[in-house]
Amino acid sequence: MKKIVVLVLMLLSVQVYAQKFKGLALTPPMGWNSWNKFACDVNEKVIRDCADAMVKSGLKDAGYKYIVIDDCWHGERDSLGFIQADPQRFPSGMKALADYIHSLGLKFGIYSDAGWKTCGGRPGSRGREYQDAYMYAKWGIDYLKYDWCNTEGLNAEGAYMTMRDALYAAGRPIVFSLCEWGNNDPWKWGKNVGHLWRTTGDIAVLFDGEEKHPGWSSWGVLQIIDMRQDIRQYAGPDHWNDPDMMEVGNGMSVNEDRAHFSMWCMQAAPLMAGNDLANMSKETLEILTNKEAIAVDQDTLGIQGFSYAMNDKVEIWFKPLQNDEWAVCFLNRNGEAKPVEFTWSEHKVIDSFANREADFTKTTYKIRDLWAKKDIGKTDKKLTTTLPGHDVLMFRLTPVK
Ligand code: GLA
Repeated sequence: MKKIVVLVLMLLSVQVYAQKFKGLALTPPMGWNSWNKFACDVNEKVIRDCADAMVKSGLKDAGYKYIVIDDCWHGERDSLGFIQADPQRFPSGMKALADYIHSLGLKFGIYSDAGWKTCGGRPGSRGREYQDAYMYAKWGIDYLKYDWCNTEGLNAEGAYMTMRDALYAAGRPIVFSLCEWGNNDPWKWGKNVGHLWRTTGDIAVLFDGEEKHPGWSSWGVLQIIDMRQDIRQYAGPDHWNDPDMMEVGNGMSVNEDRAHFSMWCMQAAPLMAGNDLANMSKETLEILTNKEAIAVDQDTLGIQGFSYAMNDKVEIWFKPLQNDEWAVCFLNRNGEAKPVEFTWSEHKVIDSFANREADFTKTTYKIRDLWAKKDIGKTDKKLTTTLPGHDVLMFRLTPVK
């Protein structure tokens, strides 16, 4: 009898410890991350300025809430092995920064790496997972991005589980963002480990192409979209495919930024802005805060969209939404303008994974243009228009009863 009680208690404790914090990302996380714009040039002023700007610009009201410092915030470990922030760059310390960010009603994220060193050569968490998780909890961290450089000999699922368990043991709910670039099929095991996982290598400020670096490449928006079209069934509330942080406002044209943002929404991607929030153009702000596009991303069904058809490199994506609504995106992959014609009533769109269909031969939908921000008619009429190069038309369709 005693043995059985002990066994039950042990099983219960495994149950209690071996899990991620549930329910922290029921819709794709939204926020800002320092890497795409600032790389290793981070300090507490940059982070505070971006946090202030997130509130003042209206991004917070649009749903953005995480301020995440990526690589290079680290100083040395202390004599007991506890990680410290770089005292020159973060003289007030991480706790003070966390308090400041929280005082704005925002949440605070940080970055580490499963290996000996981060990609930027700072101390990694290997062998120090519990100690680091303890420190993050003490500082008041709400989100951890966990990278995969310098991990020779480690098993990815095991390494990410170790940090998951360390975070759980530390007791503070922390969103866990896995960043191993899709090398070990994280969509197959990540659901019980973290809340989102990177699906590809790094994004570049590039709409279409590859940027070669010694030993690795970063990728254009179209390349990232195309790399993983077969994993949408793995994403859903609390466990998302992450095609990387956004490059909106970092140098592509306005059309390209709009297309990039729209496609991230169609993919139910985490929306992590990657530009300088304290110095952004009106156009960038308008894109990042388009509430109707964001609503497509944040739809509570959490179904990732899919490519339905392509004609002359104009691709049509569909995404099922709540209440039998749909989002549709016409993506012009060409550099030049293209005519678009689409006779809705000839199409029946079937999403067999999500078990949904939009049968335009039988049902008529009202069409809302999410960038023009106006209703443009119904699906009983043929769509005829011209789409500029590297741009999108994005609609929300509501069935007419
Ligand atoms: C990797 C990640 C990037 C960024 C850098 C930091 O390349 O994929 O998103 O975190 O490391 O060094």
